[in-house]
Amino acid sequence: MKANKTIKRAVALAMACAATSATADVEVLHWWTSGGEAAALNVLKQDLESKGIGWLDMPVAGGGGEQAMTVLRARVTAGNAPTAVQMLGFDILDWAEQGALANLNDLAAQEGWDEVVPAALQQFAKHDGQWISAPVNVHTTNWVWANKAVLDSVGVSEPKNWNEFVAALEKVKASGKIALAHGGQAWQDATIFDGVALSAGGPAWYKRAIVQLDPAALGGSEMLETFKRMEVLRGYVDENFSGRDWNLASAMVINGEAAFQIMGDWAKGEFLNAGKTPGSDFLCFRVPGSGGSVSFNSDQFAMFKVTGQAAEEQVVMASAVMSPKFQSAFNVVKGSVPARTDVPDTDFDDCGKKGMRELAAAASSGNMVGSMAHGHANPAAVKNAMYDVITAHFNGEYDAATAVQEIVTAVEVAR
Ligand code: GAL
Repeated sequence: MKANKTIKRAVALAMACAATSATADVEVLHWWTSGGEAAALNVLKQDLESKGIGWLDMPVAGGGGEQAMTVLRARVTAGNAPTAVQMLGFDILDWAEQGALANLNDLAAQEGWDEVVPAALQQFAKHDGQWISAPVNVHTTNWVWANKAVLDSVGVSEPKNWNEFVAALEKVKASGKIALAHGGQAWQDATIFDGVALSAGGPAWYKRAIVQLDPAALGGSEMLETFKRMEVLRGYVDENFSGRDWNLASAMVINGEAAFQIMGDWAKGEFLNAGKTPGSDFLCFRVPGSGGSVSFNSDQFAMFKVTGQAAEEQVVMASAVMSPKFQSAFNVVKGSVPARTDVPDTDFDDCGKKGMRELAAAASSGNMVGSMAHGHANPAAVKNAMYDVITAHFNGEYDAATAVQEIVTAVEVAR
């Protein structure tokens, strides 16, 4: 009863605000600062504005959200948590464990979230049976983005397996263009690793090694092959790759300076924001060898425990985020796919439709795995331990065999 009253009050608040055009503000901490991300964020801001909720922006740049999480810890420690926070996987559970998140059960029950949010996402949106965040999308990370004109100019078509991919990279390099656009930042190295691991070891091994942390699988021949493939890719990035932001790497493919980028489908947001069309201007395909599997991450808005009007605004925001119409409008721009199973693919472009199809297929075949790079395979300590080894190896500190030993040891220490 009390629940319904709160929801009703929240909706009434939204209507009253809209009627008087006075705006209450939600403060939202997020890391959506690139052109494509900002365009998607605008869809959310405008949606909330139409419901009378103003937006207090708290952007903290840095893909994967590490910097954002650091700022968040500082804010919470200072007793000043933001209203809503973009968060990934195990970070959400971590904050829930600490009792910091609001309970969204009443809204979830009223809107039937249990029935429409896939189980793989509920695993991170619920804690002890309580809804503690609202999932806004599903991204998948094992994608390659390619400039079609560059491929045409060197006579390359979409590579169907790993060897064809390497041959294509080689051809581009020989032509004088940059074969692989990449930014040398730990989370980007790890994002490449997600797709390469799936390609080299397959989803069953990925689950055993990367998710369940079975030391035999972690130290197995598949891991060696994964690091060897990472080394091959390292040979195709340009010499200025170190520290480059991911969206600048996307821009290199968009502008035809480079042929390929391995990146989650937020990269598509950059292509769209630059006015490019899938199929004619750019291609999207899975990291060769990883077809049939997806490594996923889901951006969710976790609501911190607050009281009074702010709590009511949280309910309005969570409800807005979960609306099927909004999920379509937002994800069409963001490059991701909806976090609900009942949203039609009508408004999505070819890459989006493919993404939705492949996600559904991987979910039913059991080949949908949590992205290690984006916090859906392990808690932060293990993730960071893996990051360290992957980056050190990518930068030539270890050979592949040493990297295998290092990752086994680092995980053992961190878990
Ligand atoms: C991911 C996030 C995406 C995307 C990306 C780059 O962690 O899930 O929404 O924005 O970082 O910033």
